[in-house]
Amino acid sequence: MQHIDNPFSLAGKVAIVTGASRGIGAAISRQLGELGAHVVMADLLDEVEATAKRLSSDGLSAEAQRIDVTSTASVNDLAQRISQKHGRVDIAIANAGISYEAETAMHSDEEWSRVMAVNLDGVFRTVRAIGNIMLEQGGGSIVAISSIAGVKAVRPELHAGYDVAKAGVAHLCRVVGVEWAKRNVRVNAVGPGYTNTPMLQQVGIERPEVMARWIDDIPMGRLLEPAEVAAAVAFLASDAASGITGHVLMADAGYSAA
Ligand SMILES: NC(=O)c1ccc[n+]([C@@H]2O[C@H](COP(=O)([O-])OP(=O)(O)OC[C@H]3O[C@@H](n4cnc5c(N)ncnc54)[C@H](O)[C@@H]3O)[C@@H](O)[C@H]2O)c1
Repeated sequence: MQHIDNPFSLAGKVAIVTGASRGIGAAISRQLGELGAHVVMADLLDEVEATAKRLSSDGLSAEAQRIDVTSTASVNDLAQRISQKHGRVDIAIANAGISYEAETAMHSDEEWSRVMAVNLDGVFRTVRAIGNIMLEQGGGSIVAISSIAGVKAVRPELHAGYDVAKAGVAHLCRVVGVEWAKRNVRVNAVGPGYTNTPMLQQVGIERPEVMARWIDDIPMGRLLEPAEVAAAVAFLASDAASGITGHVLMADAGYSAA
């Protein structure tokens, strides 16, 4: 029987996911693991240990590691340790992120610097550190998490720094995707829409009018599940997307098209 390789399979690949302890990062880790990758789940929080154990007890190959994406030393150290331990890093998912709310006229310097340090500089550090390993080994696939907030003005919540950082992530992936295109390192972004994570569930409880406004604005009329974002990320990470680089894939239930 003729053997047909499945380009969506991640069997034998080593993946690093930042911000993996919960929410979208945990769902991405599970999806990559289910497709056969060994997943290094990296996060600031202790919670990442328990999340990685849950994946392992479900038969997936996962390990927990600590990382603070606001520190160049922390990101470089993790990239080096994982590359030495496993001999390579095939996939990197720059997912760690924070949010907040502030009207622009009241926006503090501290809020601006903090969100840039995690959501934009943190992605840059991750792309640079793991990209270097991929360039050296002759290939790899990087996916960073942008947002609908990076391509249009979302409402009614206000967080200009978050929005600008997410637009920066999308453009970083275009620029670096083109820069490394001939070196077999692909760099893409996924732009999630409003996703059913604990953070958004809390908004639904505390401010149901905001949730109602979001649902009204989303063409599919519902939040995304984290697994739906994870599937888009896994596609870009896999060889099925071997011809795609510098691209921003919106996984947003139609939000950015409306
Ligand atoms: N939830 C949504 O609706 C939505 C929509 C669009 C984009 N996003 C983006 O998706 C990503 C994941 O969001 P989420 O909703 O799962 O959020 P979340 O808060 O549940 O998870 C974010 C994770 O990042 C980690 N993190 C934060 N700062 C870190 C740091 N300095 N170093 C390492 N890890 C750090 C946190 O500990 C946490 O585990 C974020 O980049 C977010 O901006 C989320």
